[in-house]
Amino acid sequence: MKLLVINGPNLNLLGGREPNIYGSETYSDLISGLKAYAQKMGAELDAFQSNHEGQLIDCLHNAIGVYDGIIMNPGAYTHYSYALRDAVLAAGLPVIEVHISNVHKREAFRHVSVTAPACIGQITGLGTQGYYLAVDYFIRTLKKP
Ligand code: DQA
Repeated sequence: MKLLVINGPNLNLLGGREPNIYGSETYSDLISGLKAYAQKMGAELDAFQSNHEGQLIDCLHNAIGVYDGIIMNPGAYTHYSYALRDAVLAAGLPVIEVHISNVHKREAFRHVSVTAPACIGQITGLGTQGYYLAVDYFIRTLKKP
């Protein structure tokens, strides 16, 4: 099973960026932790991060036929990128949307996700554990008997 983690704008700065909201774990710690966890669970996990909408869209297109599931934190694009939402639908792959912070407890503009309706589900507010829970979901639902 091959999983892909896609992180959008500003998530490369995890650890240093507003640590009161996003915690102190760095982006590279998160990705190495996820890779090790996926491997332990018998899956392969790749990661991609970009601050550019078009690159995130290209990444979703390039995932077609390669990955079994995608875990995506679109950052602020969540709240307004119809292009990213369309790319999720176009890719036709199961995508779980993850947010580190509880977007519903924050500013009103963060309460709306235009991308979530294109995803199978959303995990929000559980810190970086949300990414691990999404890996677990794919392991449990996609694992071949
Ligand atoms: C975020 C929440 C978004 O509103 C914000 O723009 C981010 C991070 C989160 O993981 O909590 O960049 O997606």
